[in-house]
Amino acid sequence: MTLAELDAQQAQSLGEVAAAADAAALEQVRIRYLGRNGSLPAIIKQMKDVPQAERPEFGKHVQAWRMALEGALAEKVSGVGAVKKEESTFDCTLPGRWFAPGAKHPVSRVIEETAAIFSRLGFTVADGPDIENRFNNFTALNTPAHHPSMDASDTFWLTDNLLLRTQTSPVQIRMMTQYTPPVRIITPGRTYRRDTTDATHSANFHQIEGLYVDTKPVSLADLKSTLAYYAKEMMGSKAGVRFRPHFFPFTEPSVEVDFSCHVCGGKGCRVCKMSGWIEIAGAGMVDPRVYEHVNRARGDRAYAPEAVYGYAFGFGVERIAMIKYGIPDIRWLYENDTRFLSQLA
Ligand code: PHE
Repeated sequence: MTLAELDAQQAQSLGEVAAAADAAALEQVRIRYLGRNGSLPAIIKQMKDVPQAERPEFGKHVQAWRMALEGALAEKVSGVGAVKKEESTFDCTLPGRWFAPGAKHPVSRVIEETAAIFSRLGFTVADGPDIENRFNNFTALNTPAHHPSMDASDTFWLTDNLLLRTQTSPVQIRMMTQYTPPVRIITPGRTYRRDTTDATHSANFHQIEGLYVDTKPVSLADLKSTLAYYAKEMMGSKAGVRFRPHFFPFTEPSVEVDFSCHVCGGKGCRVCKMSGWIEIAGAGMVDPRVYEHVNRARGDRAYAPEAVYGYAFGFGVERIAMIKYGIPDIRWLYENDTRFLSQLA
């Protein structure tokens, strides 16, 4: 093939592109010239027969043709519309594409529901950082310097003074140093302890702290009725609460709070280890020494122990989630296994 013949074919092909009336005709032109058995590939194959002296020039022309043709096709296609393969072969009997709707994580659900319940009692939601200092997490909470909970084997210390909070109770201190009474807050958040992970322990878990301090009398009976209300709202109208004497450095008197077992209704089952009750929270009346630490930090006597009354409580969020949703292993909450999570959707 000579150069002249080549250029004639190029002109011919561009003319056909210009003359094509619709997308289908255009596709025919494309296949005729550029398709696997089209003219251009055939010519390229024959290039070895072109005299060597002419070959570079010939190659340039072939290349220019291809570019011109592809350009013309692209331009024309955008005018007449491409052949829509999917449209012409759409099979409406195929099943639809499956997609998994997301679900709220049980821990988030418990936190949100708890916030909603306590907001009806006038509590607002407060927040504190995961990294705390020794004063807020221990000292101001009346924890003696030698207390075992401060050991490096229990607490993740970052520096001499900073640690990953072992409880949400330090937010009590933050709130009282910042605001004058009355304060009525709950504060959900992550807490950290050097626990070995098993079915009921995790080194990272969540608590919801509550604090109510007022200049009007607030009593242990108020604490009990508040938690009883919460239990019923959270677990159903048959839920009961019971207080057991306990000790926390920052409350006096201190109690541990049990909810009646929602699984067996209190008759005794595997979940409640046949006792009919499940331990849910620590609580108590704020210890006067905590007020004194707060006053010293504030530089005033806004929390004079003889003039204020208050209670505090702290729930384990995973605990509540496990009994509310019947989850036997705390690790399930963290493994992000969609087979588990999708059941909560
Ligand atoms: N912070 C305590 C704990 O982690 C719980 C608690 C909170 C107890 C508030 C009393 C008052 O176990």
